[in-house]
Amino acid sequence: MKAGILGIGDALPPRVVTNDDLVAQLDTSDEWIVRRTGIRERRWLAADETLADLAASACSAALEDAGTAASDVDQVIVATITPDQLTPGLAPAVAAKLGAESAAVVDINAACTGFLYGLDHAAALVESGRARNVLVVGAEALSRITDHDDRATAVLFGDGAAAALVGPITEGLGIAGFEFGHDASLAGLLFAEREERKLRMAGQEVYRHAVARMTEATERLLARSGVQAQDVDLFVAHQANARIITAVADALGIPHERVSFNVEWTANTSAASIPLGLAAAQRDGLLKPGALVGMVAFGAGFVWGAGLTSWKDQAALSSASGEARTSITTTRSRQ
Ligand code: ACO
Repeated sequence: MKAGILGIGDALPPRVVTNDDLVAQLDTSDEWIVRRTGIRERRWLAADETLADLAASACSAALEDAGTAASDVDQVIVATITPDQLTPGLAPAVAAKLGAESAAVVDINAACTGFLYGLDHAAALVESGRARNVLVVGAEALSRITDHDDRATAVLFGDGAAAALVGPITEGLGIAGFEFGHDASLAGLLFAEREERKLRMAGQEVYRHAVARMTEATERLLARSGVQAQDVDLFVAHQANARIITAVADALGIPHERVSFNVEWTANTSAASIPLGLAAAQRDGLLKPGALVGMVAFGAGFVWGAGLTSWKDQAALSSASGEARTSITTTRSRQ
């Protein structure tokens, strides 16, 4: 049995924080932030809003998109580094808010790569027959671990949540595979200490490693899968910085019109950024059923990963377009 993405949904806090809002507090400028990062605005949760509510909203939207009832969800996997409390994690509250009463619940922490790990785990559960419907939600409140007085990091982060429903598919490529890597010897370049609870990073070093590792991981995955870069219909890289995304896409030879850029209005939302990109792309009509999607992330650890999936294979099968993919070989023949 194969597993595929059957639905997608997202949720952002109502409060919009523009670059000009930050200029009023910090020695920075809209011009610097846009030129160095591509970010124009971000969303922040209010003090009385919870990340669990935001994550549950994203999950509800994904279930609605898939036409699946919450009672049919077997497991909820939340990827986050910013749960509302140190413990419990978010997953129990998210399942309760959804009404997914019989679901297993778990949080995972792989920083910006968390959503890809969640997708890999969900696909394994579905493919092994241990679960039928698994919700994977990336949810972050990075504004709560940001040093708002440090201009080098204060402008970079935002809050948000987005979810994918993973379930069985009868035909099509589905969630095809992943390439993961880690290097703990460089953990000191990007971290938040238990006591201080603020993100600290050596920006230029992180930038350099992010471009190299995301490019390598994607190249390895494409080579292993027998896929050419030009076969990828949409490339969704972790949205930390538009320059990083552009550098990786250029190194891979993926044209910019096939690259997701939502960092402009979300900023860096860590584990939420890839599913936020997927949800926005579907809304914008960039993801047709059967489309081949490349994903790649890099973050604290360092932990990184690349993934390949086709989009909503079941919908492709039920359509008259005849574009359903049944193997990687099918995608190569489209060149
Ligand atoms: N406004 C104005 N000036 C600033 C600001 C700011 N907000 N921040 C830094 N500067 C200044 C610096 O003080 C420095 O000044 P100086 O030359 O007088 O010393 C100058 O701008 C250049 O600073 P750099 O750090 O060299 O700027 P850089 O071009 O490297 O951009 C940035 C910084 C945007 C952080 C970049 O390094 C970057 O994107 N790094 C990667 C971040 C990342 O990918 N994080 C992902 C992991 S984190 C996560 O996802 C949870």
